[in-house]
Amino acid sequence: MSIKVQEFHKDYERWAWQINNNISYAEDIKMFKLDAKNTSYIFGATDDGYLIHGYFGKKIEDGDLTYLLRLEENPWTLKTNARDKGTFMDAHAFEYPCHGTGDYREPCLIVMDDDGMTTTDLRYVSHKVYGGKPKLEGMPATFAAENKAETLEITCVDKHTGLEAVLVYTAFNDLDVITRSVRLKNNGKAPLNVKRVLSACVDFDNDNYDFITLNGSWARERVMERCRLHHGKQSIDSVKGESSHQNNPFMALVSHNADEDSGEAYGFNFVYSGNFFAQAEVTQHKYTRAVMGINHFDFNWLLEPGEEFVAPEVVMVYSSEGIGAMSRTFHDLYREHLIRGEYKDKRRPILINNWEATYFNFDTDKLIGIAKEASKLGIEMLVMDDGWFGHRDSDNSSLGDWFVYEKKIKGGLKYLVDEVNKLGMKFGIWFEPEMISPDSELYKAHPDWAIQVKGREMTMSREQYVLDYSNKEVRDYVYGMMRNILDSANIEYIKWDMNRQLTEVGSTSLPKNRQRELWHRYVLGVYDLMNRLTTDYPHILLENCSGGGARFDPGMLYYSPQIWCSDDTDAIERLKIQHGTSICYPVSAMGAHVSDCPNHTVGRTTPFSTRGNVAMVGTFGYELDVTRIPQEDRDAIPGQIAEFNKYNPIIRTGDQYRIGNVFEDNMWDAWIFVAKDKSEAVFTFVQVLGRPNYRNRRIKLKGLDPNAVYKNSETGECHSGSALMNAGIFVSTHGDFSSKVIHFIKMS
Ligand code: DGJ
Repeated sequence: MSIKVQEFHKDYERWAWQINNNISYAEDIKMFKLDAKNTSYIFGATDDGYLIHGYFGKKIEDGDLTYLLRLEENPWTLKTNARDKGTFMDAHAFEYPCHGTGDYREPCLIVMDDDGMTTTDLRYVSHKVYGGKPKLEGMPATFAAENKAETLEITCVDKHTGLEAVLVYTAFNDLDVITRSVRLKNNGKAPLNVKRVLSACVDFDNDNYDFITLNGSWARERVMERCRLHHGKQSIDSVKGESSHQNNPFMALVSHNADEDSGEAYGFNFVYSGNFFAQAEVTQHKYTRAVMGINHFDFNWLLEPGEEFVAPEVVMVYSSEGIGAMSRTFHDLYREHLIRGEYKDKRRPILINNWEATYFNFDTDKLIGIAKEASKLGIEMLVMDDGWFGHRDSDNSSLGDWFVYEKKIKGGLKYLVDEVNKLGMKFGIWFEPEMISPDSELYKAHPDWAIQVKGREMTMSREQYVLDYSNKEVRDYVYGMMRNILDSANIEYIKWDMNRQLTEVGSTSLPKNRQRELWHRYVLGVYDLMNRLTTDYPHILLENCSGGGARFDPGMLYYSPQIWCSDDTDAIERLKIQHGTSICYPVSAMGAHVSDCPNHTVGRTTPFSTRGNVAMVGTFGYELDVTRIPQEDRDAIPGQIAEFNKYNPIIRTGDQYRIGNVFEDNMWDAWIFVAKDKSEAVFTFVQVLGRPNYRNRRIKLKGLDPNAVYKNSETGECHSGSALMNAGIFVSTHGDFSSKVIHFIKMS
């Protein structure tokens, strides 16, 4: 049974790697090596088919790498009938650990067979390598052209049940990215019940990591937390049916000494918008097992003979140059290989949204009034938020009745949109397509379309229920109503909102033995409708939203190039929210608006300029009644828009370097965006609280060309990139919440 490592160990002749672009394979000993830009990922199969993980980290050369599997070090390993195989199973690093054969750490797969048994034993059978990256049927995933990435599919089989699992790995050429997903197929004769199927596992051979996650709540999403790993399991998850305000489907393991610019960082991000599970477990041997995938909590999937199940994708990013470089890799990956559509590489229209301006209290005249004033100032699109449909005057009715509320939208939607268009502005509209109000015509006609457990009280949240998106009839009906609206006027933007979590998770249309599939089927239904919408209306800009930022995840980014970051529009709170979000998402995707003061969420008053400087590091827009704000703020808008137009190309497409850290020092924050060719950079400094005698701060810039000379737009002085980065610049502002933006242009 043994792989007989020693036999090959010094035998370089037989150590013949078949080298493709990114994926190498040693035929004799079944070792696989995936090379991304500066990253290697290595594993091998024992001769009885166990997939042993070898290495994930900075790129290494091909050669004799079997020692990384550590097989020869353990006298008790790999004896077919050895009484110590159990010890081997609980100690080694596995690529895709199963439950029941002696590995007592967190498993990726638990499948119950027809006899009620839950032991699963996957073994390597075959593999294939091809250029590019496959689509995941019905699900979002990163994509790559044939010459940009290479994919390895490893087929494993559990002989006892006939379950086949295909582990799919893709390595990217130009980025330090490896993605993983899993396809299950029941090739047996009896039904199987998949109790858990995670998408990725990495067994690290030490525990010297800090655990970084992005956590929070409504109005303070994705605040970064960092703690030292310790024995046992540290996990984050969602059981709410959405990726959630509370935990983002992201985790990173970073070396204790890692900071923005140095140290090792491993980032894991789940391309999924529903229940997820992410965990780092420090084991008895002081190794660390990292796993990520669909949450197994309350999950079951019936796999009849011949049926397949596809588990969503995990993106893994490696950086040997700190957390900042890890973030920039995520940003490049998502901008180039995840976000799609017309607005992928385009500047987004500067919008004004009426939510914080009017809440539900608006009509055609009020909206046209706002649009008139906004258009004079250079704002390019009016977005009509919640309250235009059914008989909705507050959040207690009408979700599901997607027809115009004539009392408010006098003269009809087309009239309103035409009037806004006449002002030279685009028009956008809000929907919450997954919801149904008990007080709605839709609910009267189809009470069974809400997610529910028959005979039990339905829990209301914001006076609404959730529609059963596993039911195609429901999706078709809702989409029909949306189409009527979209076809009735020149609508160029949609805000797709989702304002409550799932409860009493049951479906009137699924059979008993498939009820626990609803969590995942719901998410697939949402993806299906988003897919139809973006295919049928490719010119519409879709912005995702979920009570602020409860679904800010890569799954949503596949359909909507921007996501509303948070309902908290206060510039100072946004420093934390946008900092945390930028750990793995690009600012080009972050919905950010200038709003009125005192801020509606925290009651804070900040300078209008600071609100602009912070929102500019996002999609940028306004969320206020421009007819009622102070004249001096109104007067500032054209200048703010001019700055946005000047800096947006660098901010949207350049490299982001975080300089300050408002988490560590509540006094200030700073960042710089550098053009890819290093010809320009935009630096922003925000003073949180003013301090006496502490005004002229020296700040070291980042990301510039050390040998080039840059002109400082504030002082007019020219300095070398090396001076600006190593010695820094002096920045001074006065007053709480003050800020400034400095433009650096390369002179030579
Ligand atoms: C929650 C969103 O985050 C807000 O921006 C707004 O659209 C409301 N919902 C409307 O109900």
